[in-house]
Amino acid sequence: MDIRDYLEHQRRLVDQTLDAVVPPETQSPETIHKAMRYSLFAGGKRLRPILCMEAARAVGRHVEGVERAACSLELIHTYSLIHDDLPALDNDDLRRGRPTNHKVFGEAIAILAGDSLLTLAFLVLAQLPGVSAETRVRLVAELASASGTVEGMIAGQVRDLEGERETATPERLEAIHRAKTGSLLRASVRMGAIYAGATVEELEAVTRYGEHIGLAFQIIDDVLDLEQPSEQLGKTAGKDVEQNKITFPAVYGLEESRRMAHNELLRSQQALAIFGQRGARLRELAEFIVHRKA
Ligand code: IPE
Ligand code: IPE
Ligand code: MG
Ligand code: MG
Ligand code: MG
Repeated sequence: MDIRDYLEHQRRLVDQTLDAVVPPETQSPETIHKAMRYSLFAGGKRLRPILCMEAARAVGRHVEGVERAACSLELIHTYSLIHDDLPALDNDDLRRGRPTNHKVFGEAIAILAGDSLLTLAFLVLAQLPGVSAETRVRLVAELASASGTVEGMIAGQVRDLEGERETATPERLEAIHRAKTGSLLRASVRMGAIYAGATVEELEAVTRYGEHIGLAFQIIDDVLDLEQPSEQLGKTAGKDVEQNKITFPAVYGLEESRRMAHNELLRSQQALAIFGQRGARLRELAEFIVHRKA
């Protein structure tokens, strides 16, 4: 199966699982479930759950049911996007090709929809069938710390916002990107590996892979913000310059940024050596992250 068909197939699996874990729109109070589903089913790439499932397959010991654990990552990610778009943060009108959550449901419900997805992510993990209580606790801790304030996603968001009023330096840039996006991508593959019963060496290998693709991912997000039109991105292009964000192109220029992303790609692939052929899809996913157009 080529990478396009593979991704399409994986996305369907993620969407079916998400549909099963999120309350239906008919569940009272209907507004909040409509708002949660509005952003969740707007057509994201589902990269984090796919990376999680593929890391589990690379380890290979116990893979059955991993898609449910993987969905917790998409719930956190979508919550972070809804809040990222709020007027108090990036103030964006367009997300995943649709008006942003607060544009449709109002700020109060958008804040609560983010909160609800965040809470649901941990319920999904706490109730995960097919793994030991110890594994469930490890997964909860992994996701919580990756989303949190100590080098997690929130730490990155805070630095990103404060960075709008600071000069762009390589040190600030790296600190923002590693936490803002890198931490959840790193956790994606770590959670898959933990679910599948990884050895210490296997967990270390996916961690290094996750760190390199995490950085590559955000470099490319910054590059695409400059190079692609909004229609292609499904979100407002050119926002980073407009809001004086500390980005890779701002510090290094476009050409050097692309070169750096490619270097991260190579290093991510080197980290997969211990998996042999079972790491093939993870290698392809790293290529996809760097060569994507949206
Ligand atoms: C966008 O993430 C936000 C960042 C973390 C930079 P994605 O590019 O994965 O967004 P979706 O999920 O495909 O919409
Ligand atoms: C947001 O980063 C990352 C999150 C934690 C949501 P950006 O602000 O660069 O994401 P986009 O470009 O709006 O998707
Ligand atoms: Mg932002
Ligand atoms: Mg943003
Ligand atoms: Mg961006």
